[in-house]
Amino acid sequence: MDLLKLQKTLGERLESLAAAGLTHLPLARSRVEFAFEEVTVNDSATNVSAVHESAAQMQTSTLEPGPQSLAGSLPEVNARGMPKRSVAKPMPTIALNEEVDLRPYGPSCSDEERLALLNSMSQEVAGCTRCNILSACRKQTVFGVGNFRPRLVFFGEAPGADEDRVGEPFVGAAGQLLDKIIGACKMKREDVYIMNTVKCRPPDNRNPTPSEMANCWEYAERQLEILQPEFICCLGRVAAQTLLKTESPIGHLRGKFFKYRDSQVIVTYHPAYLLRTESAKKLTWDDMRMLMAAMGISV
Ligand code: URA
Ligand code: URA
Repeated sequence: MDLLKLQKTLGERLESLAAAGLTHLPLARSRVEFAFEEVTVNDSATNVSAVHESAAQMQTSTLEPGPQSLAGSLPEVNARGMPKRSVAKPMPTIALNEEVDLRPYGPSCSDEERLALLNSMSQEVAGCTRCNILSACRKQTVFGVGNFRPRLVFFGEAPGADEDRVGEPFVGAAGQLLDKIIGACKMKREDVYIMNTVKCRPPDNRNPTPSEMANCWEYAERQLEILQPEFICCLGRVAAQTLLKTESPIGHLRGKFFKYRDSQVIVTYHPAYLLRTESAKKLTWDDMRMLMAAMGISV
């Protein structure tokens, strides 16, 4: 069977599965309970107050509350609406194993160079055929989106159906929760950069295979070399294990800082997992507070 025929057949098969409702697990809407469920992406004073109140109610963090962390102390914002910050605190990081890439990033590029490099890489990725199945099944590749000089990169797993259709990471149900998490951290989606481990949607929303992850890793590596973020937040097992070259489960990886090149890395649960697992939201909020403290954003 030639590739086009295979693509058509698989596409039809996927559409019929989707039409039958078989490609998605039902996503339970959770009760409004956690800081990132209580704010919208708008960083208005009311919303920020809601974060403070809810953070104050939540006595579960492993972090020492800082002197400015009391409810009511709204953050000063800069011209772009980003909270003003003190210099990021160097956090004690954990060396996982010698396979993690700890080489320093190369020289930082100008904004123009970054844009040009990301644009040309995005086009290169759009034509990628390293994975037969993924390149035959995708509607389009999903490269990454956001601030090309980010302090923080969110590193996800792989596009789902919505992302495959729109061409942007985290635009579906999990993406809406991610937006709330970003908002609760007093940032906006445009302030951060969002990218995935794998740039094509795996059929039936299965996990990417090890060879698909290996094929795509070079793109993520080059993307991070261009972006050179201070912080990377891995969303879920696949992202964390790929970046940190480990097989440890999320439960062992979260709550700590790791190093990848010059970036400080934290690991938390995937938003899609949070949609199914109410009890993990509190833990992700703890992780986000740890991250905000390191970024110098007062809670
Ligand atoms: N899940 C991911 O890991 N990435 C996306 O872009 C969307 C859902
Ligand atoms: N398993 C995953 O793949 N991701 C999570 O976030 C939690 C469990």
